[in-house]
Amino acid sequence: MIRHILTDGMDEFDLTRLDVYRSRGGYEALAKALRTMSPDDVVNEVKVSNLRGRGGAGAGTHFKWSTLPNDGRPRYLILNGDESEPGSFSGRMLVQKNPHLIIEGALLAAYACKMARIFLYLRGEFHEGAEVMARAVGAAREAGLVGDRILGSDFSVEFVVHRGAGAYICGEETAIMESLEGKRGHPRTKPPFPTAAGLYGMPTVIQNVETVANLAPIVANGGAWFAGIGPAKSPGTKICSISGRVRRPGNYEIEMGTPLRELLEEHAGGLEPGHALKFILPAGASSALVLPSQLDTPLDFDSMTAIRSMLGSAGMLVCDDRDCAVHVAYLGARFYHHESCGKCTPCREGTGWTEKVLHRMEHGEGRPGDTKRLSDLCAGIGGRKCLCLLGDFSVTYLESALRAFREEFVAHEAGGPCPVAHAALEVSAR
Ligand SMILES: Cc1cc2nc3c(=O)[nH]c(=O)nc-3n(C[C@H](O)[C@H](O)[C@H](O)COP(=O)(O)O)c2cc1C
Ligand code: SF4
Repeated sequence: MIRHILTDGMDEFDLTRLDVYRSRGGYEALAKALRTMSPDDVVNEVKVSNLRGRGGAGAGTHFKWSTLPNDGRPRYLILNGDESEPGSFSGRMLVQKNPHLIIEGALLAAYACKMARIFLYLRGEFHEGAEVMARAVGAAREAGLVGDRILGSDFSVEFVVHRGAGAYICGEETAIMESLEGKRGHPRTKPPFPTAAGLYGMPTVIQNVETVANLAPIVANGGAWFAGIGPAKSPGTKICSISGRVRRPGNYEIEMGTPLRELLEEHAGGLEPGHALKFILPAGASSALVLPSQLDTPLDFDSMTAIRSMLGSAGMLVCDDRDCAVHVAYLGARFYHHESCGKCTPCREGTGWTEKVLHRMEHGEGRPGDTKRLSDLCAGIGGRKCLCLLGDFSVTYLESALRAFREEFVAHEAGGPCPVAHAALEVSAR
């Protein structure tokens, strides 16, 4: 079911304008918190809401906040707007069209956790988003909503907008901190976890931009209201980006628990006439594929994990009977080889070999045993052998495709033109 909470009014009004955002109740949650709630009251509403992070892993937001040490050091909040997962474009939409909802949510998180500074880390390619955000933060500062003694209270916090240089790895929570500190975006060894020693060695909370966008509605309506939307363990809404072989690609804000079939067939308009669904990558290039027989799975963190896939950031890539599982694997392998930071051996070497084997299979030069070679590479890279999850991400789709469409890989070992694409062309010519 479509439910507009984060996207409410976004297509009808210019919410990038502070006066328009305020005329629709914007910054009233912040005013309510500063006037009538203590920081602990806000923390408690977030606990009751059971909000889980929208950046991929679905980590409990309250749990993350509760691990901050109480040792008097300055605390930082990083808003993760890197959004580099192929197929995800919901964060970009929020940044460009509803920037004040993100700013208000970040201010509420900063108030609740007593943060000294907020850093918004935006993907390097988000030129427009960075301009929209800089303007919105400037307008909020002029109106006394950012900076010293916000709305006349004792609460002060600064807000910095920072653009990365376009690296997928800089979305990872520790690489983002290295990048913000002016170093190469390489992941750090954990522990220490960011809440113990993060940006500049200080306690740091990292949240996806969509996660914090939920905070103003939660404070305005109460945590119990939010907890009542969708499944109890995975409440709220999720903005799903859906693209590929669908008739109406785009962003759709759905209640958690909405069946994948409804999103695909009703909201995204289904597939082009005459074509059949082959599989969906529900969380971009790093997720295990979902088959047509699994379309009735509810879109929430736990249900998607139960079918050995994931909701992740819900960047859905839809493939139909024209798409070859090997071709999709090759595109992913090329991406991960390019994006591997090279810090650890299984990922650095493994992504290179995976691309090499898939490149020759894809280009008509497959060799006997290549399918087995790919299975061995998956085993060598996956299973948490690397410093960060990019290594595992690089083989998640491939492993699932080798399970579901092994015969397509084996057929490519013979070399020559792609047998799957040929079959699809023959079908469409009939
Ligand atoms: C390789 C890699 C890339 C990631 N990219 C992003 C990203 O672009 N945006 C994001 O919010 N989280 C990304 N994450 C997850 C973050 O590390 C982190 O878990 C998240 O920002 C926490 O926010 P949340 O709790 O609000 O979901 C990435 C993780 C990995 C391993
Ligand atoms: S898994 Fe890959 S991206 Fe992550 S630290 Fe290791 S080499 Fe870098």
